[in-house]
Amino acid sequence: METPKEIFLKHYKMPDYFFDTVDLKFSLGEDKTIVCSRITVLPRVEGVSFPLILDGQDLKLVSIKLNGEELKKEDFVLDSRHLILASPPTKPFILEIVTEIYPQNNTSLEGLYKSSGNFCTQCEAEGFRKITFYQDRPDIMAKYTCHVEADKTLYPVLLSNGNLIEQGDLEDGRHYALWEDPFKKPSYLFALVAGQLISRDDTFVTRSGRKVSLRIWTKAEDVPKTAHAMHSLMAAMKWDEEVFGLEYDLDLFNIVAVPDFNMGAMENKSLNIFNSKLVLASPETATDADYASILGVIGHEYFHNWTGNRVTCRDWFQLSLKEGLTVFRDQEFSSDMGSRTVKRIADVSRLRTYQFPQDAGPMAHPVRPHSYIKMDNFYTVTVYEKGAEVVRMYKTLLGSSGFRKGMDLYFKRHDGQAVTCEDFFAAMRDANDADFSNFLLWYSQAGTPLVKVTSSYNSETNTYSLKFSQQVPPTPGQPVKDPMFIPVAIGLLDSNGNDLPLTSVFHEGLLHSISSNGHPVSTTVLRVTKEEEEFVFHDIPHKPVPSILRNYSAPIRLDSDLTDDDLFFLLDHDSDEFNRWEAGQILGRKLMLSLVADYQQNKPLVLNPKFVNGMKSILCDSSLDKEFIAKAITLPGEGEIMDMMEVADPDAVHAVRCFIKKQLASELRGEFLTTVKDNSSAEPYEFNHHNMTRRALKNTALAYLASLDDLELTKLALNEYKSATNLTEQFAALTAIAQNPGEARDSVLADFYRKWEHDYLVVNKWLTLQAISDIPGNVKNVQRLLNHPSFDIRNPNKVYSLIGGFCGSPVNLHAKDGSGYEFLGDIVLQLDKLNPQVAARMVSAFSRWRRYDETRQALAKVQLEKIVAANGLSENVYEIASKSLA
Ligand code: PHE
Ligand code: ZN
Repeated sequence: METPKEIFLKHYKMPDYFFDTVDLKFSLGEDKTIVCSRITVLPRVEGVSFPLILDGQDLKLVSIKLNGEELKKEDFVLDSRHLILASPPTKPFILEIVTEIYPQNNTSLEGLYKSSGNFCTQCEAEGFRKITFYQDRPDIMAKYTCHVEADKTLYPVLLSNGNLIEQGDLEDGRHYALWEDPFKKPSYLFALVAGQLISRDDTFVTRSGRKVSLRIWTKAEDVPKTAHAMHSLMAAMKWDEEVFGLEYDLDLFNIVAVPDFNMGAMENKSLNIFNSKLVLASPETATDADYASILGVIGHEYFHNWTGNRVTCRDWFQLSLKEGLTVFRDQEFSSDMGSRTVKRIADVSRLRTYQFPQDAGPMAHPVRPHSYIKMDNFYTVTVYEKGAEVVRMYKTLLGSSGFRKGMDLYFKRHDGQAVTCEDFFAAMRDANDADFSNFLLWYSQAGTPLVKVTSSYNSETNTYSLKFSQQVPPTPGQPVKDPMFIPVAIGLLDSNGNDLPLTSVFHEGLLHSISSNGHPVSTTVLRVTKEEEEFVFHDIPHKPVPSILRNYSAPIRLDSDLTDDDLFFLLDHDSDEFNRWEAGQILGRKLMLSLVADYQQNKPLVLNPKFVNGMKSILCDSSLDKEFIAKAITLPGEGEIMDMMEVADPDAVHAVRCFIKKQLASELRGEFLTTVKDNSSAEPYEFNHHNMTRRALKNTALAYLASLDDLELTKLALNEYKSATNLTEQFAALTAIAQNPGEARDSVLADFYRKWEHDYLVVNKWLTLQAISDIPGNVKNVQRLLNHPSFDIRNPNKVYSLIGGFCGSPVNLHAKDGSGYEFLGDIVLQLDKLNPQVAARMVSAFSRWRRYDETRQALAKVQLEKIVAANGLSENVYEIASKSLA
C-alpha cells in the first residue's frame, strides 16, 4: 500500500472553478446504474486556465463531453482517484460526464448503495465522488436537478432533494421522477432514494403560513412505528421557530428510514436519511432511551437545515461549525422537551465517558482538526460534543439574548455561504460588542484543560478568595499549550445551604460590581484566562462553601480543595442541581479510587457509611425529580476511574464498582424494594416526563437489588420481566437478571429471543446485552454469537451491537490472556474488507492501549501491528491504527 496522504487545513485553497448548476440523471438497474451529469462550470478568474481536478472513486467512466463535444483520451488524465482536465476553457462551459456504478456490490455504504432491496445514497463526507466525477468539496455549492428512472414495480417510490417537478411512465415497466432543489448546496447534501416504501404523512404550517407536507418513509409494516418520529419532527419545527426564529423553507420534508446505515442519520436537503433505529419506535419495541434519542436526532437533522445546509462549511476541517452548533441546538431542544438538569447530566457524562479519553489519547485533536487522512475518522465526540460545549460557552458568556443576537447576525451575514469557525466567532463577538480574548483557542488546542482551585476566607475583611491555575496537557503534535479562556460559573453557599448574595469581586487590581440591575446575583461567571489567577469576593459575612463550575460551564477537569464534608453539603443543598449531582460523582470517584488502591494491596474492602447515608438521603428525598435520583445514585463509570489511574487496572476497578453496588444494595435493600414497589405501574406506556422518570428510578433500583443474586430478588426481577407492558421495563428487568450467570439468566435470555426474533432492532439489544457482559471468558460467547442467525457482519447496527458491545466491557476486552484483543484484531481485518468506516470505529477500541500494564500493552500492540501490516488495508483503519502505535 502507498502510505496514505495527510491533508492539512493550512493548505486550503479556493477552488479555481465554481459549479453553477448540476443536472443529474440516474438510470437505476440491477446489474449497473448509469449516471449522467451535466455541470455548468464557471472559472473563478476568467481568462486564466488552471487544471480542473475532479474527484472520482470506484467509477467506470463511459464518456465525457465539453460544450457538447466528446473528449478524447489525450484530453484528460484519469487515475484511481481523479479525472483531470489539463486546460479547460477560460470562459463558462458545460461538462457532461457519464459513469457506470454498481450499487448492488457497494458494502461500504457510502455513495449509492442498496439497503434491503432499496436504493439509497450517503454522500457526507466524500461519498458523492463514488457516484460521479465532481469537485467533491463543500465550498462548491450548486443548484441541482435530479432525474431518476427505475423499474416501477421494484422501485415505486423515487425521491431526491427539493420539489417534485414531473413524473411519468416509461417503456419496459419503468418510470421516472424529476426533482429540483431551488437551494444551492454542496455535494455532500445530495440524496436519492428509490424503492418500496410507504409514508406516514402529516402537515406543518409554519408561522408565516407555509404549509409543509411531512412524510416519513419506511417498509409498509413499520409505518405504525413512525408516530413518535413524526411527533418529534413537528415539535422540532415549532421549537426552532420559537427559540431561533428559524422556519422551514420548502413545501416538502421527507425522512426515509433504512436498516443499513453507518451513522445515526443524515441531513440531506429536504430528504433526511435515517438509520431505522433512530426512527422506529413502539412501546413494546423501543425503550425510553430510544424514544429520547429519536427526539434528539430528528431534531438534530431538522436543525441542520439552517445550521449546516443554509450556512455550510467551507472545508471539512470546519465540521464543528455545523456539528457542534447543531448538537448544542438538539441538546437545548431535548432540555426544553424534558428535564433540563437530567439532560445536562446525561450530556456531561457522555463527554466524560467518550470525549475525555479521546482528548487524552493518540487520536486527540482540536475541535477544528489541523489535518486528517480520512475525514470519516473525524466525526468524533470531540468535533460533536466538545464542539457543542464550545457553543454553549458563548451562550454562558453572552446570556440567551446575546447568544440569539449572535445567531441572527450569523444567518444575516452567511446565508447561502460556506464559512469557517472564525465566521461564527465573529458573528457572536460583533453582535454583542464582546471581548472574547483568546476564546478561539478552543478551536485549535486539543486536550482537556485541568483547572485547580484553592480557596481561603478572611474573616477580618469578609473576603473570600478563589485561586485558579490551569494547565492544558500535551497532545500529539501540540507539546506546549497557551492558557485558555475558561468561563467558570460560581455560587457561594451559606451555612444553611442558601446562595449568598454576590455583589462584587476583586480581580487584577480592580473591584468589579457583579450585581444585575442593582440586585446582587447568586451565580456569577468568572473569566479565567491566565495560567494563574485570583478572584476575591467581597462582603462575604462568613466562610462559604463554593459551588464551582455550575451547570458545567466549561469542558474542563476541575480539581478543587473541597473536603468530603463540603461535597456532602453540596450534594444536599446546592441550588444548582447539576452541581448537586456533580458533588455526588466527585465523592463516588474519590471513594472508588481509594478502594481500588485497597483492592490492589489485598486489603479488605469497606464502604464508608457516610457514602451510604448520602445515597440513602438522595434515594428517599421525595422532593427530587426521580430521574435525577436515578442519575445521582448511579456510580461513575469504570472508564472514568481507569482514566484517573497511573496504570489502568480494569479488574480492580470492576471489582470495586461491583463491591460498592452490592454493598449499597444490601444496606439499602429495604429502600430499594420500596422504590421498586412505589414506582411500579400498570398504566399503558406513555413517553412523558412523569412516566419516564418513574421507570428510570424503578429500573435503577431493580438493577441494584438484582446484583445481590439472591433468590427472592431474582424472582422479583423475573416477575417484573413477565408483567412488563413495555420494553423499557421488560428490558431493564432482563438486564438486571442477566448480571448473574446461571439458569435464570440463560432461560430468560432464551425467552426474550423467542419473543423478539422477528424484530431486528430488539434483537440487537439482546446481542449487546450478552456482548457487554462481564462474565469471565465472555469472548467465547461473543464468538459463538457471530454465527447466530440474527447476526450479519454487513449490517453496521449489528456490528455496533455485538462487536461494539464487547468493546464496552473492560474486563473482557482487556482480558489478561489477550483473548479479547485477538478477537477484536481479527474481526477488524474481516470488517475492513467490507466496510472501512465501521472497521475504523471498532479499531478505535485499541487506541488507549498504552494506559494498561506491560503484559496487556504487549498483547494489544501485537494486534495493532498485525492490522497495520495487513494487505490492502483501508486508509480509515490505517489512520487510527498507525496513530495509535505512534
Ligand atoms: N451529518 C450527520 C449528522 O447529522 C452525520 C453523518 C456523517 C452521517 C457522515 C453520515 C455520514 O450528524
Ligand atoms: Zn449533525
